[in-house]
Amino acid sequence: MPHALITGITGQDGLYLGELLIDKGYEVFGLVRGQSNPKVAMVEKTLPGVRLLEGDLTDLPSLIGAVEIAQPDEVYNLGAISFVGLSWRQAELTGETTGIGVLRMLEAIRIVTSDEMGRIRFYQASSSEMFGKVRETPQRETTAFHPRSPYGVAKTFGHYITVNYRESYGAHAVSGILFNHESPRRGVEFVTRKISRGVARIALGAQEKIALGNLEARRDWGFAGDYVDAMWRMLQRDTADDYVVATGETHSVRELLDTAFSHVGIDDWSPYVVQDPRFLRPAEVDVLVGDASKARDLLGWRPAVGFRTLVEMMVNADLAAVRSELDREDATLRGDAAQRA
Ligand code: NAP
Ligand code: GDD
Repeated sequence: MPHALITGITGQDGLYLGELLIDKGYEVFGLVRGQSNPKVAMVEKTLPGVRLLEGDLTDLPSLIGAVEIAQPDEVYNLGAISFVGLSWRQAELTGETTGIGVLRMLEAIRIVTSDEMGRIRFYQASSSEMFGKVRETPQRETTAFHPRSPYGVAKTFGHYITVNYRESYGAHAVSGILFNHESPRRGVEFVTRKISRGVARIALGAQEKIALGNLEARRDWGFAGDYVDAMWRMLQRDTADDYVVATGETHSVRELLDTAFSHVGIDDWSPYVVQDPRFLRPAEVDVLVGDASKARDLLGWRPAVGFRTLVEMMVNADLAAVRSELDREDATLRGDAAQRA
């Protein structure tokens, strides 16, 4: 049975990847940080059989310990401060976790394998945010980087240190340059989930407006379930390389609003959306769109879920979740009223 160690197991991609690897017969180990991480119960419920190990990307000894216990054939480094907006406010922590954290994970593998790094295959979760102020469109593996946020700068370090360990120590280290990917498991701080949840709450009468920043930004949005399959495929090749993973389509935040609101029967969303300067960024990435032909040709990877299906899947999941929340609130209110009566 192959062993896999996943950092970032509590995140969106960690959960989808854990499910994929368990289905393929892997023993899955997940790194969990903090002394009482509130997401542990959710991970254990979603991934029965997963073995959780304590560790933090800012703490090398804990990473060495995790690699020693897991004895992994494959390490997927998904852990990061991943919210671009936060990275300006906590730039040093972002650098330590999202950037230097990659170096620490590679060092842990180098130390545990006594310099025979090729024994453990390594996946680094790189990002289209590295392209930033884009130099060409669509972006591909050879496009120059111009990151626009502390997060993008940290990811660019993580990408290059992965390539460097491949070239310096023969590490089987792969960098997946993934464009935005979303799902009902997406954190509520990201724009797709903020909109799907906001639209569901508005449709059910629980919220009046959604406050947003730049509506003109364009992203290449795919489905996270498709993208974790690309990660696994990258590590199955005998040659370590870098791959862009994207749908090849770009849509604006405005189009995202059109699609999400029309799904609940609202054609004119202007009364429900306000622009709030708090959500504007000091430097913006205006347009991203990826060319994933290398992943298609060498990995046989193609996205299965398109933009409209993705948005509708997210709005449907939030409608169901908000309905249950409202039912629970009603039941509590009825209980309180009965006690007072
Ligand atoms: P996510 O949902 O934000 O998950 C981030 C994970 O990192 C969480 O499990 C978090 O743990 C963990 N983490 C944070 N700080 C850590 C630390 N100091 N030590 C160990 N773990 C730590 O992100 P995601 O969307 O699944 O993305 C997975 C990876 O792909 C990230 O590296 C992200 O930057 C990258 N990426 C994502 C996209 C995308 O569109 N989703 C695109 C390109 C690249 P807690 O739960 O304890 O906070
Ligand atoms: N989060 C957020 N909230 N974004 C907003 C809002 C808002 O209220 N209003 C407009 N936007 C715009 C942002 O300015 C950005 O241009 C776009 O919506 C997408 O923002 P996010 O969903 O936060 O994602 P991101 O593109 O910055 O970063 C995500 O994708 C990267 C890959 O390109 C994250 O998942 C990163 O971790 C990932 O690397």
